[in-house]
Amino acid sequence: MTYEDFLELVKKRRSIRRFKPDPLPDDYVEKIIEAARWSPSGANSQPWEFVVVKDRDTKEKIGEWFQEAAELSSRVENTRDSEMRHSSANSNVARPGFIDAPVLILLCGDLRTREVYPLASMLTRADKIFYSSLASAFLYMHLAATTLGLASRWVSSTANTLPQARIKNLLGIPKEFEIYDTMALGYPASAPRPRFVRERQGMVHREKFDKSIYRNAQQLREFIIKVHNPNAPAGK
Ligand SMILES: Cc1cc2nc3c(=O)[nH]c(=O)nc-3n(C[C@H](O)[C@H](O)[C@H](O)COP(=O)(O)O)c2cc1C
Repeated sequence: MTYEDFLELVKKRRSIRRFKPDPLPDDYVEKIIEAARWSPSGANSQPWEFVVVKDRDTKEKIGEWFQEAAELSSRVENTRDSEMRHSSANSNVARPGFIDAPVLILLCGDLRTREVYPLASMLTRADKIFYSSLASAFLYMHLAATTLGLASRWVSSTANTLPQARIKNLLGIPKEFEIYDTMALGYPASAPRPRFVRERQGMVHREKFDKSIYRNAQQLREFIIKVHNPNAPAGK
């Protein structure tokens, strides 16, 4: 594989939020999990466990709890300066699109694996290492899905306190496991949203931190507005 092939894959991976209900070939989920198994993790702790959900009723339940969390989040978002609001401020969708996906993969982490870290890390940076390890596995899963021509979405609200507790209870996930995030997986029924990607020259510091590219408060505000609305004029 060349760098160009790799970059093409990286650019091709996008978040898709609506899915066709068509089932996936049997081995696709295994292939995606196989990729995650090789992900780097802090001290090789391999905290991951994968709960694969295809059952319609379970997906509906998860969707219902997600929606409740989304409504709460929308009310919080609406307390913000209107220009700065994230799209989650408009939670007028009756039903989240991801529950039509034929498969959900809940990536869980075993909190006990933090014992694998060196003691100094365990005492000071355990959470960082734990979540970074899960994030790297999750990213591998999304990239693997892209190579298989599938659409995927990173659903993080399933990790919020209330949905997390409800889902763990429904699926019998033991208390020493935490749901990191949920991957919705299937064939796309919508195009990805426009995306704003920062320019490389605004983020690379050669030898020392280059203060000439430091973003002041106004520039950062413009950046946030632009991320939330890629059609906005400014932002870097
Ligand atoms: C840590 C993390 C959490 C995310 N949570 C969500 C989420 O809850 N819902 C969602 O639709 N997308 C979620 N995303 C996807 C981002 O919104 C998306 O990656 C970003 O907007 C860039 O778009 P792209 O993935 O199409 O390149 C998440 C991504 C990351 C890395």
